[in-house]
Amino acid sequence: MSAAELEATAKAMVAKGKGILAIDESTPTIKKRFDTISVESTEENRRAYRDLLITNPGGNEYISGMILFDETIRQSTSNGTPFSKALVVQGIMPGIKVDTGAKEFALHPGEKVTEGLDGLRDRLTEYKALGAKFAKWRAVITIGDNIPSQACIDANAHALSRYAGLCQEAGIVPMVEPEVLMDADNTIERCYEVTENTLSTLFNTLKSQDVAIEHTILKTNMVVSGKQCSVQANVEQVAEQTVKCLLANVPAELPGIVFLSGGQSAELATAHLNEMNAKNPDLPWPLSFSYGRALQEPCLKTWSGDSANVGAAQAALLHREKCNSLACNGEYTTDMENAA
Ligand code: 13P
Repeated sequence: MSAAELEATAKAMVAKGKGILAIDESTPTIKKRFDTISVESTEENRRAYRDLLITNPGGNEYISGMILFDETIRQSTSNGTPFSKALVVQGIMPGIKVDTGAKEFALHPGEKVTEGLDGLRDRLTEYKALGAKFAKWRAVITIGDNIPSQACIDANAHALSRYAGLCQEAGIVPMVEPEVLMDADNTIERCYEVTENTLSTLFNTLKSQDVAIEHTILKTNMVVSGKQCSVQANVEQVAEQTVKCLLANVPAELPGIVFLSGGQSAELATAHLNEMNAKNPDLPWPLSFSYGRALQEPCLKTWSGDSANVGAAQAALLHREKCNSLACNGEYTTDMENAA
């Protein structure tokens, strides 16, 4: 393992004004996204869509890395360049989702634990050869009546830590993603409590397994009101509670934090990130983005499976990337949406 390589990768992932585009939807998830635009989820349609995301001219000004799915890292552009090479040529780092999904957690109805550790050392060696510089593992924490259990938080933290150790051994930066879901009717206060427990458990477990925090990137949810909650916290409250929770639970030596969008609208995800950075210029770590839906949604709709729309779809993606890049520096304003 080369510490210098891990350090350089982690720093580059959260370089000033840059973030990560998550395009690592599993086959069932991309099918759900394609269903919304009535496009059949064939291997060629998935390739064509990922091709337009990966080869978007100018994207490298705002994007440091892209997270790919196993199928995608093995595919190529229309003119035959492997996707990972097409990214490297633009100065964008290829990343790879390596978990095999969140499965029912035994004896714990309504809760999930993420699988994928078996054989991971060998898979990481292969992904490294295919060009991956960083990897992602997503754990899912669900809020509900009497859940999450501490057992669920512990089991997911344990798996995330074992994955992170294997990544660092392979010279790949682990992006640890514990996602507290925002779909329920809970208050923002409840989201704060659960996120706090999830993050503090995760960092204690990472340390107990000797994972180098300084070579790890955190991908986390923001502290928000559940979607079904009748009282919705505003942008200022979300930014304040999220930053407070991170300051209390994330070690200062972590090189960077990126957010998932989790079902927030594209514009709200940008506004939240902007508010955090505008109000807190002196945080111990850069706060950036690693959105999937909040970057892709307008682009996906514009594309709608028609090759004639590729240019317009790429422009829609570039707009969201630029807005989020500005939000990393607290320089985004909602006027920028109207000008688009
Ligand atoms: P969303 O931004 O759509 O939540 O996706 C990010 C991600 O990578 C989830 O694992």
